[in-house]
Amino acid sequence: MITELLRNRFSVRKYQDRPIPNDVLRELLEAGRLSPSGGNEQPWVFGVLTDRTLIAQVSETAYRQKWIAKAPLLIVLCTVGVGDERGGRDIQKARFAEHAEAIGKMDQDLYWALNQEEHQTKIAGTHMALAALEHGVGSCWVSRFDAKRLAKLLNLPEGCMPSEILVFGYPEEERAATKKKGLDQVVFYNTFG
Ligand SMILES: Cc1cc2nc3c(=O)[nH]c(=O)nc-3n(C[C@H](O)[C@H](O)[C@H](O)COP(=O)(O)O)c2cc1C
Repeated sequence: MITELLRNRFSVRKYQDRPIPNDVLRELLEAGRLSPSGGNEQPWVFGVLTDRTLIAQVSETAYRQKWIAKAPLLIVLCTVGVGDERGGRDIQKARFAEHAEAIGKMDQDLYWALNQEEHQTKIAGTHMALAALEHGVGSCWVSRFDAKRLAKLLNLPEGCMPSEILVFGYPEEERAATKKKGLDQVVFYNTFG
């Protein structure tokens, strides 16, 4: 059961020196490919990195999070920019009506930089991380990186930016899952209080 796997999940930052088999990698990518997206835009590409030298360079762009360099597999979730004509900005204006004018005036580059990370690739990445758990492969999300520098390193085309790095590997050690808040702290039914 998925919830049983989730109960034991923790962010894995120490990996065995063991590659992820191709059939498992394929399952992870399939899980990402099948994920939902607003308007079924699928505004992403997934960069599969197994080259050790490149992985070490990526860890440098992630403000020297050295543990990343030891991983056998990174999947860089990249967002492919969707122009205003597809209505993305209208969604934000509708959600935050009091800021609609400011959102409308915001420079396209700035608007996109602030929004590209927010929604979509996290869902595909979550599918991948869940699929990995089924195969005993651990993962850790990385959001703290220099997006421009990473885009350059991976030779990404214009309009395509790295949103998240997912780091995968067989865990070197087992440990208890990180403590979470109880349902009584995070759920409300109907109205709050
Ligand atoms: C969107 C996102 C970004 C994250 N970025 C980083 C990161 O840059 N570096 C890191 O070491 N951990 C990162 N993490 C992992 C969190 O620190 C971790 O999920 C959190 O401490 C809870 O622990 P758990 O995953 O073991 O439950 C990130 C997690 C998420 C969901």
